[in-house]
Amino acid sequence: MTSTPLLSATGITRRFGGITAVDNVDLHVAEGEFLSVIGPNGAGKTTLFNLISGQDRMDAGKVMLEGTEITNFPPHKMAGIGMARTFQHGRVFGNLTVMDNVLIGCHTRLRAARSTIPVVAPLLEILKALIRPKSVRDEEAAMRAEVREIVATFGDRLTPRIHQPTYSLSYANRRRVEIARALALHPRLLILDEPTAGMNESETAEMQSIIGELKAQGRTILLIEHKLNMVMQLSDRVMAMDNGKVISQGKPAEVRNDPKVIEAYLGHSAIGGDDHGAPGMMPLQAAGGAE
Ligand SMILES: Nc1ncnc2c1ncn2[C@@H]1O[C@H](COP(=O)(O)OP(=O)(O)O)[C@@H](O)[C@H]1O
Ligand SMILES: [Mg+2]
Repeated sequence: MTSTPLLSATGITRRFGGITAVDNVDLHVAEGEFLSVIGPNGAGKTTLFNLISGQDRMDAGKVMLEGTEITNFPPHKMAGIGMARTFQHGRVFGNLTVMDNVLIGCHTRLRAARSTIPVVAPLLEILKALIRPKSVRDEEAAMRAEVREIVATFGDRLTPRIHQPTYSLSYANRRRVEIARALALHPRLLILDEPTAGMNESETAEMQSIIGELKAQGRTILLIEHKLNMVMQLSDRVMAMDNGKVISQGKPAEVRNDPKVIEAYLGHSAIGGDDHGAPGMMPLQAAGGAE
């Protein structure tokens, strides 16, 4: 890599009791790059992403975003500097509508961009919320228009349901809402933790094409994914983990054919979406042979 990476994480380590879930991992992502992290269940992928995005605190290591240290920043600060993520098991506010869930992403972005003068800034915000001057109404209308645009990325999946509470949506639709909310942050780095976990084949194909579109827009994306076909097609680079360590990295085909990766997966019997066997689970060799 010639230029300064957008994200640079070095020596990342996290221990849980006697287990070192993430063991001295380095990870670099260049602007516009699509990097996937693969590995059997328990390899440490989610923990690594939790550490990078501030959901968990590391025991050792350093994270830099474009040369600025952001190690162990709290999640709201991470969001403010343009790091947006989705979660392996999906997290949306069930009682809020699709519109309001995605608006949260817009609000987070605006709040981060605004003045942070103590006392004065919050008071000004309250005053503006009470009086609702034209500037506030215009801003809100613009945000709602933007939410509609983002939601339209998902075809007719979400738009007809935009005013429904998300608890009434299908699981696949709730996962789409989560991605829409992440996009509303205008992320510099989009982190997706198994975006197709629990999805059937056609839902997976649809999600893959949406992620492919996000890639085509030139976004910088970090993906954790078990479905190897998807990883092979989308990634510029793949990093494989096992037992908290990086065991292989490089071009997708190189990593897939690396004996260390094959052994790690065979040792764990299958590339699973989650512990109870998500659809799309397939042995590595079958995934390779299907190409
Ligand atoms: N909060 C936690 N407390 C204790 N152990 C944890 C915790 N989170 C993860 N682990 C352990 O860390 C290891 C890595 O887990 P995880 O990062 O979820 O793996 P992956 O996402 O690759 O499946 C596993 O052994 C898991 O049991
Ligand atoms: Mg995980």
